[in-house]
Amino acid sequence: MIQDDIRRLKIEKNAVILAHYYQDAAVQDIADFVGDSLELSKIAAQTEAEIIVFCGVNFMAETAKILSPKKKVLLPVKEAKCPMAMMISADQLKQYKQAHPDRKIVCYVNSYADVKALSDVCVTSSNAEKILAAFGNEKVLYIPDKNLGRYLKYKYGYDIELWPGFCCIHNRLRTSLVREAKAKHPEALFLVHPEAPLEVVKLADYVGSTRGIIAYATASPAQEFIIGTEKGILHPLQKANPGKKFHILTPDLACFDMKLTTLDDVYHALRDETFEITVPEEIRKEAYRSLAKMLEMS
Ligand code: 13P
Ligand code: SF4
Repeated sequence: MIQDDIRRLKIEKNAVILAHYYQDAAVQDIADFVGDSLELSKIAAQTEAEIIVFCGVNFMAETAKILSPKKKVLLPVKEAKCPMAMMISADQLKQYKQAHPDRKIVCYVNSYADVKALSDVCVTSSNAEKILAAFGNEKVLYIPDKNLGRYLKYKYGYDIELWPGFCCIHNRLRTSLVREAKAKHPEALFLVHPEAPLEVVKLADYVGSTRGIIAYATASPAQEFIIGTEKGILHPLQKANPGKKFHILTPDLACFDMKLTTLDDVYHALRDETFEITVPEEIRKEAYRSLAKMLEMS
């Protein structure tokens, strides 16, 4: 079985397999750690393994490399990328900073190393609220996710400027979908990721990262939930809560890039040590600063 070959190679090469909650169930099940962006970056920063196989999209593997520069970091599918991370470039950010030198740059982890390198601090959806609170008296530019930025601005009233980036999966969600799902499942609680538009987020019983959604559903006495994030999360939700019912808000909640990775790709990545992620050292050092600050403040 391919799972046995992967396990054998993993031991032979002293590798660790990390997978995001949006990966296919089979990929999650072969991983040593499954988590959200924050948990996986913490593991990447601490692992003793020589090779990190990152089952996710390229900014995540790049983040692992920034935090663990001595490790070989592999992304099983070279083309797996996050469209949101491509919605801001380092040149655009440099220009913005020149025009607005008074704004602190708070950067969502869904971004590339050269953008992180120009930022004051990174955040993920797990720690954005906490970290933003420490910047409460400052003027902030939040990049690149306008929806998460708008939610933080709405919730705390901070002086936050927004960048017009978005997640093409969560940004599609509409209030009409939530109303229809609630009518169909009147007992269910609605749990949503903050990458969704604010109007949708306002209808939620809980707003949080993928890990937050799993923790909330697991601790809740409720038995039924409508889920407003990528459908890969149904696998860990169902595993942790075999007796509870989960309804995905819409089957469109599927991230094309997250779903590219197969078990075959994981096997080939380990066997051939492909595709290796590299980051130029001068960029890595600066990007590390904003990520280290995030880990210190989380
Ligand atoms: P989290 O892993 O922080 O929940 O973010 C979800 C996401 O969209 C990752 O691309
Ligand atoms: Fe990017 Fe959205 Fe896919 Fe996450 S779900 S990787 S933010 S496109």
